[in-house]
Amino acid sequence: MDTTTRRTLWITGGGSGMGRAVALAAARSGWAVALSGRRRDTLEKIVQEISAAGGAALALPLDVRDRDALTAAAEQVVATFGGLDALVLAAGQNSPRRRWEDQGMEEFESVVATNLTAVATTLDAALPHLRRRGGAVVAISSYAGWSFQPGAGVAYSASKTAVSSLMRTLNQQEAVHGVRACHLCPGDVATDFLEQRPQVPDEAARALMLTAEDIARTVEFVLESPAHVRVDELVISPLSQA
Ligand SMILES: NC(=O)c1ccc[n+]([C@@H]2O[C@H](COP(=O)([O-])OP(=O)(O)OC[C@H]3O[C@@H](n4cnc5c(N)ncnc54)[C@H](OP(=O)(O)O)[C@@H]3O)[C@@H](O)[C@H]2O)c1
Repeated sequence: MDTTTRRTLWITGGGSGMGRAVALAAARSGWAVALSGRRRDTLEKIVQEISAAGGAALALPLDVRDRDALTAAAEQVVATFGGLDALVLAAGQNSPRRRWEDQGMEEFESVVATNLTAVATTLDAALPHLRRRGGAVVAISSYAGWSFQPGAGVAYSASKTAVSSLMRTLNQQEAVHGVRACHLCPGDVATDFLEQRPQVPDEAARALMLTAEDIARTVEFVLESPAHVRVDELVISPLSQA
């Protein structure tokens, strides 16, 4: 199939966890997918996997805290696939140092830059293209962006809570262009992200959590909804979530 006839999805944090699962599911459904993250090798492996199955994929390694890199990547997605129909923002960071008594401002700024500023920067780069096609946006936020979670961390909670505002301003201002955004708030998901907790969950605890594929299915529901349907916010948790 000519890649320019496929719908195009750009995913930040596409090299692992939920971003990777979203990429594989979307590619199976016929989307061309562009993947960004810092680790080139993990992105390239997914591109190979998708290509081997007859799909279309592109690796765009970058650090989401680098505004110029995001701008260039948005242009490259469009140059390669002919446009942009959807954006999934999955790149995220936390730290084991989550309390005022042990966190440092350097790390605080990095978490906010990754979880919040980069979401705005990616949107700023992608919106001119999304407006042309009435595109969909899914921000993988967090339970901590939906309700206060004491263990989530100072910087993480602040940054994810603010992502909700970004999605609401998008929906309020960009609907006129057909752009719709979803603030997706997962509870515990068994991914590498758990390694950033002060107490890393063991296998038994992970077995009770959501999987990255559960989130991919949820994202697919949002992306495949008809153009007049906006899913403003979704909270998804494992049955065991406290
Ligand atoms: N797992 C959970 O329990 C959970 C629950 C709620 C919400 N979330 C959120 O879900 C999202 C996805 O996380 P995940 O659970 O799927 O874990 P993950 O596999 O660790 O995914 C995080 C992704 O973000 C990318 N990333 C981090 N910093 C980056 C940077 N500066 N520039 C570019 N990419 C960056 C990582 O790629 P590189 O390291 O290659 O850059 C990685 O692919 C995150 O936003 C997280 O906050 C997770």
